[in-house]
Amino acid sequence: MNVVAQTSVGEVPNEVAQTLVCEFPGQRSQTEVCATGIRQGLTRRIARERRRRRVGRAYDMALEIARVIPKGSEVLDVGCGNGFIAHHLSAMLGTKVVGLDVINAPEAPIDYRRYDREQFPVKANSVDAVLLCYVLHHAQDASVVLKEVRRVLREDGVVIIYEDIPQSWWDKAMCWLHNRNWKDRTGPCTFRKKAEWRRLFDALGFVIKRDRQLSRWRNLTHPVTRFSFVLQPELTAANKANLRRTTLHTLPDARGLRRSSCRYR
Ligand SMILES: C[S@@+](CC[C@H](N)C(=O)[O-])C[C@H]1O[C@@H](n2cnc3c(N)ncnc32)[C@H](O)[C@@H]1O
Repeated sequence: MNVVAQTSVGEVPNEVAQTLVCEFPGQRSQTEVCATGIRQGLTRRIARERRRRRVGRAYDMALEIARVIPKGSEVLDVGCGNGFIAHHLSAMLGTKVVGLDVINAPEAPIDYRRYDREQFPVKANSVDAVLLCYVLHHAQDASVVLKEVRRVLREDGVVIIYEDIPQSWWDKAMCWLHNRNWKDRTGPCTFRKKAEWRRLFDALGFVIKRDRQLSRWRNLTHPVTRFSFVLQPELTAANKANLRRTTLHTLPDARGLRRSSCRYR
């Protein structure tokens, strides 16, 4: 054992406390211990900041979605990811929002169910609203997902979709980066232009009630053009007659929606 320093710690009358700082062969020096402590502290702080950003973004999205879905609705969040949108929305609507995903259990305490990419673990005609927030471009076959949405959705239900849209060369670069980050986890992404999404929704029996371009600057770490769509299932004449509840008449009119949504652009 080598004594490498002798330090006085604190001033005590008639007594000076002294600490022998020793170095054992193979033991880390005080500088190394100190550097490790700082590194770990910084890592924890960065992780906390990232978590706050994820939770805050999910809160803003849940607020925006809650304007379109009446309180008490039964909601399915497909591709729920970390589950924070579903968690916040549950509190806002006063119901339990179920989250589905193909990978990982979420961080937030929600009713999470694993989706096998074929059939949602949910009964037919059982939900009032389905969310697909930045999910469809991950699906290897978006029509498989949308057919499942159609199966589980009640006749008067709504589908809320958010998508990244490769509109300009910048957007295309952002989409390329997103695909590079995700392709090993969920397979290659398929980004579509707005008109292509509209054609697909139409072909699968959905009516587009609203679509809205969102600012690419709503997420500074992923600045890409985005669109949100609100769809409803196309109603047959018989279903129209049987319709007991309506959902979209609870929406503000188009002008009101535009005005109220500006804060979240
Ligand atoms: C970009 S994240 C969005 C997560 C969450 N919706 C949000 O906005 O915070 C895409 C999510 O979709 C999930 N996903 C990928 N392919 C899917 C599929 N075929 N069906 C459902 N979810 C899928 C991924 O696992 C991932 O959690």
